[in-house]
Amino acid sequence: MSQTPPVPVRHYLQFTDLTADEYAHLFARAAEIKRKFKAYEKYHPLADRTLAMIFEKASTRTRVSFEAGMYQLGGSVVHLTTGDSQLGRSEPIEDSARVISRMTDLVMIRTFGQDKIERFAAHSRVPVINGLTNEFHPCQILADIFTYIEHRGSIQGKVVAWVGDGNNMANTWLQAAELLGFTVHLSTPSGYEVDQAVAGLRSADSYKIFKDPEDACRGADLVTTDVWTSMGFEAENEARKKAFAEWCVDEAMMQVAKPDALFMHCLPAHRGEEVSAEVIDGPQSVVWDEAENRMHVQKALMEFLLLGHVNA
Ligand code: CP
Ligand code: NVA
Repeated sequence: MSQTPPVPVRHYLQFTDLTADEYAHLFARAAEIKRKFKAYEKYHPLADRTLAMIFEKASTRTRVSFEAGMYQLGGSVVHLTTGDSQLGRSEPIEDSARVISRMTDLVMIRTFGQDKIERFAAHSRVPVINGLTNEFHPCQILADIFTYIEHRGSIQGKVVAWVGDGNNMANTWLQAAELLGFTVHLSTPSGYEVDQAVAGLRSADSYKIFKDPEDACRGADLVTTDVWTSMGFEAENEARKKAFAEWCVDEAMMQVAKPDALFMHCLPAHRGEEVSAEVIDGPQSVVWDEAENRMHVQKALMEFLLLGHVNA
């Protein structure tokens, strides 16, 4: 039951924290868990387990998907923010981790620097999940790849075009490409490139850099983008609006991608900035499936971190 994990504590702080085999298992579990949800089949493997959710930045999808998902698995949640807990009043992160992880079974954190979540995990008795940091957003890429597989089959050997900021989403796509064997075509404005060291890549073999975003999209199986200004970088908003003006995924970019290319966006989106309304609301866009799938893949992730390999 609670506080007696049957499997050794594993954290999910970046995409590389699981192996390719474990991802294959998670994608299969996510499909089965989604099937049960759609069929209104009760599935409560996490009865009596509690998930603590700590938000130091805003969220819609991450909060709803983890909270609804945990209840659907039979567990419960505690929701904390910087403003309504001692986290915002300088209690050391290590002390918060020691205390919260004695009372709950699993912790999800959305915060600023990756170092913060690493420090929390180092002092936690229970698994810690990254719900977005400045550097990574692994749960989102988990959902994105699951969505790709649902629509098109294996992502191995495919080309993903990344148009926009060299941010947490871009870093995580690059980690996934290295681990799961696909290629990322990256196009970012000058000054907003991905830093290979921050992304934690072993080599430059799984990505190619393009100056012109349209060239990055040429022949791509999936075109994806994200906001010009991520949370925590709002002071740069005006400078970014100028720098990113050409990095808007529009119909011309989708036309040079493969005819059956998909469009994804982690959301929230700004129509007319990083993506045109025609593309995000058009026939190649799978953004609503992508958002829904956050819940299914995270249920599979929570099941895996707490119970290990399950085949129910
Ligand atoms: N994509 C995503 O993480 O959305 P939220 O910021 O709404 O959680
Ligand atoms: N890159 C964005 C993703 C939001 C889900 C941010 O960090 O704000």
